[in-house]
Amino acid sequence: MRQTADFILVHAHELVTCKGPASGTAGAEVLNQLETIADGAVAVVGGNIVAVGSSEQVLAQWESRQCIDARGRLVSPGLVDPHSHLLFSGNRYAEYESRVTGQAPVGIEGGIHFSVSRTRSASDAELVEQARTDLDVMLAHGTTTLEAKTGYGLDAQAELRLLRLTAGLQHAIEIVPTFLALHVPPPPQEKSRGDFIAEMLAALPEAAVYAEYCDVTADPIGFTVDECLSVGARARELGMGIRVHADQTGDGGGALVACQLQAAGADHLDYTSEAGFRSMAEAGTVATLLPSVTYHMCEMTPRIHKGSLGAADKPFMPLLARRAVDAGGVVALSTDYNPGTSPTPSMQAVMQLAARLFRLSYAEIWHMCTLNAAASLNRGHDRGSIEVGKRADLLLWKVATHGMAINRFGYNMVDRVWVEGRAAATVPA
Ligand code: NIG
Ligand code: FE
Repeated sequence: MRQTADFILVHAHELVTCKGPASGTAGAEVLNQLETIADGAVAVVGGNIVAVGSSEQVLAQWESRQCIDARGRLVSPGLVDPHSHLLFSGNRYAEYESRVTGQAPVGIEGGIHFSVSRTRSASDAELVEQARTDLDVMLAHGTTTLEAKTGYGLDAQAELRLLRLTAGLQHAIEIVPTFLALHVPPPPQEKSRGDFIAEMLAALPEAAVYAEYCDVTADPIGFTVDECLSVGARARELGMGIRVHADQTGDGGGALVACQLQAAGADHLDYTSEAGFRSMAEAGTVATLLPSVTYHMCEMTPRIHKGSLGAADKPFMPLLARRAVDAGGVVALSTDYNPGTSPTPSMQAVMQLAARLFRLSYAEIWHMCTLNAAASLNRGHDRGSIEVGKRADLLLWKVATHGMAINRFGYNMVDRVWVEGRAAATVPA
């Protein structure tokens, strides 16, 4: 006698499970093994996965009035995006053209402050409406869990407003709110660094009510190791987890900060040393790489100025990515969705760029965008892979294999999305 499922996805050309330990899949050898099932099926009851295997195996045990034919298609876990700045206002396309053409370089800091002033003057309703539109796009592109951090308020009250709005968002995507206490220092005419840090420390008890994580930026354009440790330690006392913007523009001691604070994740890491990656591996901090930032900042193509070509800023990123993997810790990928350095809401784009720019393998990329990203949000136990007992966060793709999803690029290849077993998005062709 077969049991009855709410629905079964059957006859997938390929079902990729991304199976691994709740703490994430680590080490080059294991990362390069990716479980795929030909003619795969997955059965769902009450929002959870109850069976996975070949269609023959699953249909021998389960039946349903809703069998969804996945013939010729890939089925995968939902994508997890562990770093975004969801709430902001205004856009930065004009400064971007200057960067591309090398006509009038615009500093990263100036850019952030522009977004800050636009965000501060936007109404709650405007911010929420834009966030919803972005979330709809993310979902249609396959993101089912999203970390969303503040960062464009840059004073305690403005950051707390963004945090409250983020925590109040209702969407099919599960949102994990983070308070970005230390993004970049405020302009000196606005307030001193010391006053800014004191103000953020004072805001932490309220932030802890709404946010699961507190984020600090350990970077030459951000804050010092000591500044990050003082804010991070207080956040930990208040029960918050820690995330770190680390070493994007130089070695700012990001790995040290992450280890001392036992951070759940440290992101960017462009200038992190081999020893830094190894110590994060030991501390259990997930190292998150952001290829869409490298791409959008044109860091791997030659600089151009007045018609002549110069060196690329970061031609070493493939070796950096290899260093991250070889250190033996858990490595994830993310969009870092923001208006300045990464205006893409799509984890598909991130997957495609991780191969093209960072030279990661298909298997590595799939682990890094699913289970490992979930592990960095402390959610590897209930999502990130297609395994019995986990949430039914599932994607039905327009393409047939996990490799095609990375080999092809420039269009949305996700067809249907389920979050906790609920049909969440059907993407028009
Ligand atoms: O990547 N730490 C710095 N940069 C931010 C975004 C910068 C911007 O808005 O230009 C980030 O998270
Ligand atoms: Fe960021």
